[in-house]
Amino acid sequence: KQRVLSTRGHLPGTGLERLAGRVELVRGPGDKPGAGELADLARGVDGILCLGNDRIDAALLDAAGPGLKVVSLASMGFDAVDQRAAADRGVVVTHTPGVLAETTADLAWALILMARRRLGSARDRLHAGDWTVFRMDDFLGLDVHGATLGLVGYGQIGRAVARRAVGFGMRVLHLDPFSTAGDELSQPADLPTLLAESDIVSLHVPLTEATRHLIGPAELGSMKTTATLINTSRGGVVDEAALLHALREGVIHSAGLDVFEHEPRGADVADLVAQSKLVALPHVGSATEATRAAMVDLAVDNLLDVLSGRPARTPIPG
Ligand code: DGY
Repeated sequence: KQRVLSTRGHLPGTGLERLAGRVELVRGPGDKPGAGELADLARGVDGILCLGNDRIDAALLDAAGPGLKVVSLASMGFDAVDQRAAADRGVVVTHTPGVLAETTADLAWALILMARRRLGSARDRLHAGDWTVFRMDDFLGLDVHGATLGLVGYGQIGRAVARRAVGFGMRVLHLDPFSTAGDELSQPADLPTLLAESDIVSLHVPLTEATRHLIGPAELGSMKTTATLINTSRGGVVDEAALLHALREGVIHSAGLDVFEHEPRGADVADLVAQSKLVALPHVGSATEATRAAMVDLAVDNLLDVLSGRPARTPIPG
């Protein structure tokens, strides 16, 4: 039997048990293993099933050894994988696009509505007993319907966000590095135009060297003072220090973040998370029972395909 390491002992759904019936399964701990533990667990395996936040680098691939054929991520993002090191060793890397797009788009909309309408602070005040009188000028936010939505990245998730904007009667702009074509949902725009004209800017790009800190002081400064920034992609796409400054100084109206440059968040972003103009969530974009189970299922299918000599269903784009 081929040996496969799952870097987590348990995963949602039934995919892991299905895998256990087909291979000799080495189960990692309940939570994320450290680099040393991961390397020990990986010795001699044919495949690795892992999450998007497991660092897959040359040292780990070498620890696994020459029998390693596939690293299958139960995640859309693959920024923690050293792609060159994997390619050099002939290791196929797969991920799970598609199955999480609609759920992540739902979450982007949750952040849009929460941040624009300042629902996080409204809820906090209710919980704190600070709702004793109805005032016309209390809890005021900004409208979502009729606003202009700018999508930075127009892949599966960006398009799913655009589809939901139809119901809100919005004008939608998008920036797509792969195409300058518009469609029935959205018009293409360059970044300066998108930032200047959008009331809500939502990020849907992978983290690469080209997108790291794509949104920094200059970009925040070129947004409307009434604008909202939403990030459900990767934390590193936004310069968090610049965002903290922008929220404190009223450079933009508000922000909604599901992702942080360093996760789980630590003391380094305590000031940012404490901002009343920020709605912050702990990376829950794809966190529904059905979607997490579908991600594990697709990751298992990819892994078994490669181990059986078939092409992977969803290899990372090369
Ligand atoms: C993804 O799939 O990339 C999500 O961020 C969860 O890891």
